Amino acid sequence: MLKATLIRATEAGARVIQDFFQGDFIISNKEGVNNLVTEADHAAEKAIFEIIKKEFPDHFILSEEAGELASESSYKWIIDPIDGTVNFAHGIPICCVSIGLEQDGEMIMGAVYNPFIEEFYFAQKGYGATLNDKKIEVSKETDVLKSCLVTGFPYSYLDQPNGPLDVFSRLIRKGVPLRRLGSAAMDLCWVAAGRFDGFYEHKLQAWDSAAGYLIVEEAGGKVSDFSGKKYSPYQPHILATNGRIHDDLLKWIRNEG
Ligand code: IPD
Ligand code: CA
Ligand code: CA
Repeated sequence: MLKATLIRATEAGARVIQDFFQGDFIISNKEGVNNLVTEADHAAEKAIFEIIKKEFPDHFILSEEAGELASESSYKWIIDPIDGTVNFAHGIPICCVSIGLEQDGEMIMGAVYNPFIEEFYFAQKGYGATLNDKKIEVSKETDVLKSCLVTGFPYSYLDQPNGPLDVFSRLIRKGVPLRRLGSAAMDLCWVAAGRFDGFYEHKLQAWDSAAGYLIVEEAGGKVSDFSGKKYSPYQPHILATNGRIHDDLLKWIRNEG
């Protein structure tokens, strides 16, 4: 029932964003520069809530635009109605719906759906990860120098010592291919699918990574914070890799390599 609801809610959100895509919609700015929210974010969130609340009215919900709908439940749905809103607002089809489900503080399921390229990623703790119902695995690359990496930049915090621009410049100077897609959830899923060997980002929010980090782990990858400790979506920094390049890339990020 949890899985069916997660899938239906993700699909409902995706239908909404597809309907709005490339049409006319209202775009507003949140705090900072170019930190956008569109009519579609709110409409997708509403469609997702309707499905979850109908089946599980007492569950806790944490969602990017609506915030917390707190309850005593041990289940918590962590929702990003559109991850990659700037892409979405520009008609760039690298954006998705992302929903993670926690039970007693442990991520037990995650779904990420990009309807524009028809990719539905799903993972359940202990049962592996799939792309459109086919098992996926992380890449086998062992050499960071030969890796293809991806990162993202937060809306603020760019110039901190060892912050996003420092790390980016260090990796680029080493000659490593390093992409920036604009959707952390897609970045994570593409690590899980073996397209990227690693992804790192400073200052994510729980809804950006909740589903995607479980999908990477279940595809055989490793996810940590920047001290190498087990990842929690409630702290800001993430490193998600195929596992094989994890320690070396971590040293580079920390400027110890
Ligand atoms: C953003 C995307 C982007 C990342 C930002 C996030 P949003 O989420 O995941 O890739 O670099 O830090 O805030 O605002 O499009 O939901
Ligand atoms: Ca996001
Ligand atoms: Ca969002």
